[in-house]
Amino acid sequence: MLKIYEYLDKHNEEHLQQLIEFLKFPSISSKSEHNNDVRNCANWLVEHIRSIGGENVRLYETGGHPVVYADFLHSDNAPTILVYGHYDVQPVEPFELWNNNPFEPIVKDNKIFARGASDDKGQLFIHIKAFESILKVTGSLPINIKFLFEGEEEAGSNHLDDFIKNNTELLRCDSVVISDTEWFDFGLPSICYALRGIAFVEVKVKGPNRDLHSGSYGGTVDNPAEVLANIISRLKDKYGRITIPRFYDGVLELTQEEKDEFARLPFNEKKYCESLGIRQTFGEIGFSTLERVWARPTLEVNGIYGGYTGEGAKTIIPAEASAKISMRLVPKQNAEEITKLFVDYIREIAPPTVALEVKALHGGNPVITPIDTIWMQKAKVALKDAFGKEPVFIREGGSIPICETFQNVLGASPVLIGFGLPTDNTHSPNENFSLENFFGGIKAIANYYMLLKE
Ligand code: BES
Ligand code: MN
Ligand code: MN
Repeated sequence: MLKIYEYLDKHNEEHLQQLIEFLKFPSISSKSEHNNDVRNCANWLVEHIRSIGGENVRLYETGGHPVVYADFLHSDNAPTILVYGHYDVQPVEPFELWNNNPFEPIVKDNKIFARGASDDKGQLFIHIKAFESILKVTGSLPINIKFLFEGEEEAGSNHLDDFIKNNTELLRCDSVVISDTEWFDFGLPSICYALRGIAFVEVKVKGPNRDLHSGSYGGTVDNPAEVLANIISRLKDKYGRITIPRFYDGVLELTQEEKDEFARLPFNEKKYCESLGIRQTFGEIGFSTLERVWARPTLEVNGIYGGYTGEGAKTIIPAEASAKISMRLVPKQNAEEITKLFVDYIREIAPPTVALEVKALHGGNPVITPIDTIWMQKAKVALKDAFGKEPVFIREGGSIPICETFQNVLGASPVLIGFGLPTDNTHSPNENFSLENFFGGIKAIANYYMLLKE
């Protein structure tokens, strides 16, 4: 292992420059104007993996953005691991709040700033460099490895499910490894054993056939913006509990052991509030902040729009108003079922004065994995060796929709060894990735691959 660590130390600068090249592609999956950028990024990845010794490297078409696949399968009696990551990124707006161009990466304070630096290009690249370093130093690989990098995660992974179902032989593996999650805190390596799922819907309330003069019609025609506000106000009670009937049916409760584990983590409510610029937290009554975000389902309005929002006044009753709403789901909830409950409920409470249009944009089921497997326990050893600190097992509130498919279709629970930090500003302006975690992450993952051999 020492030789590999030495090799990595010697090649830090080179690896950083390569990551910068990778980050320059504006591979924003949710905007069709970037379709070519996404594809160019995938092609760059293919060329890069080929150049460092990956085999069977190619793009697979999915009907959406392409999948990048590569493998190296030369260890007959060793396990096969599938490494998943995503090379697509979130949009960059609001652009003016960035201190640098999000696709012209800069290094400052030992962090690299760019869209995708942490989520997920930097973390994905850790695996490529770990693979490369072992191959360069030892001339072979202790395990069999398959890389599966998708270009649609941030848009809901809409085509990956079918791709996996149609390619089970290609993707057959003993374990799945994913680096796309966060540490609990700076300096505290973390392994994640549960993610929330998501159900995302767009609701449109339609009233009159055009915007109306609010003087001529105010008082006679129901207002779609107000109807929408009323509907939204009836989705949660004042205790933060969601009021959709049967929403909580079957929710997997935390065990006392898990609650105790959560309470032992170094969480400081006051600092949490300060870091967010809020006066106090808000959430479902009866649960701690960590319990709420890791193990309770929620509902959020992501955006609400309609009517006149430009400068000055314009006196109208808007023809329509819309909201984008997401629900985070926890183990034993199902995205499709929850979407149906949501739609049934808002149809029931909407007044007869308007028409409702509901679109389900995407969904993904929650995932929970066992901790006491060799895959998880070796991850712990590898992280401790590379970072010199005992890792903690945590849950996280975000979603990686494809995780459940790995469990159900490939029969492999994902091992979530992430290297992000809560200060990475993922999905926000000034996204960044700690270089300490980038370089340390490569060592940890190289170490992990070596450990999986036995
Ligand atoms: N890497 C995140 C998921 C994540 C976030 C895990 C925070 C752990 C902590 C992923 O790229 C992501 O953003 N997922 C989306 C999924 C959605 C677009 C379907 C999410 O969680 O909003
Ligand atoms: Mn991600
Ligand atoms: Mn993301």
